[in-house]
Amino acid sequence: MTAARIDGAAEARRLRQEIARQVTAFPQHDRPGLAVVLVGDDPASGVYVRSKARMTAEVGMNSIEHRLPASTEEAELLILIDQLNRDEAVDGILVQLPLPPSIDPLKVIQAIDPSKDVDGFHPQNAGALATGMSGLVPCTPRGALHLLKTAREDLSGLSAVIVGRSNIVGKPMAHLLLAENCTVTLAHSRSINLPDIVRQADIVVAAVGRPEFIRGSWLKPGAIVIDVGINRISEAGAKDRIVGDVAFAEASNVVSALTPVPGGVGPMTIAYLLQNTLDAARRRRGVIGSAQDEAASSL
Ligand code: GUN
Repeated sequence: MTAARIDGAAEARRLRQEIARQVTAFPQHDRPGLAVVLVGDDPASGVYVRSKARMTAEVGMNSIEHRLPASTEEAELLILIDQLNRDEAVDGILVQLPLPPSIDPLKVIQAIDPSKDVDGFHPQNAGALATGMSGLVPCTPRGALHLLKTAREDLSGLSAVIVGRSNIVGKPMAHLLLAENCTVTLAHSRSINLPDIVRQADIVVAAVGRPEFIRGSWLKPGAIVIDVGINRISEAGAKDRIVGDVAFAEASNVVSALTPVPGGVGPMTIAYLLQNTLDAARRRRGVIGSAQDEAASSL
């Protein structure tokens, strides 16, 4: 069997076009605004932040960028967040992680107004997701679920194994899949006999951050695999390569559908950051979109 390749780049393009269409419903002087804060000079974070700013502008939203030096103190960052919380032109606030070691990320996340927390990392939003209340949902799991549904619309009753228990991906993904009526297992690097656990899964979400960790022999024939990993491989004399957490070629011979890396979940994460900003902007203005818009944004 050769698996269907789930095209995240194309799906993200479609979603951004739809978001751009919905942004035109806002008056020109009151377009949604996304503030992105980057502290320090991590090159990978710099690339992500540039790409977020470009796509924010492309869908017609206002992009507000704050670049602070690595020497920034926690108190200074908290003052900036307080200003952004009060700024009427700002609908979404994203503080790029990781932060320099002198700054406590949990303190920073908790300082963001939950109604502007487009990362969905604030405990109020994490709690809302866990209890089935409305709130902002983290972008990567939202994008991963969207791609899963392009392969199979009804996930009810399926066995889903998530590998990786982070607050950013693993835990929110578990709640989203539970809400889809999956039987969810949240496995991780310390799970005993991980290959056997993964082999039970109709759906595998890989988010461990280890290159090609999940092998083809671990997968159930016909499974759907969503690879959240983005791992840079540097080899002497060769250009750097980006690979996922799943051994793609091996998996392709076993499963029914899988996401590539790059071009899978990555572009969807940014598209859902824009969707969350649109959702936050609507809620802050007390605007509920058309029934169709709501259905599209509840994915
Ligand atoms: N760094 C890597 N991924 C993310 C993300 O989704 N949000 C933020 N804020 N920082 C990140």
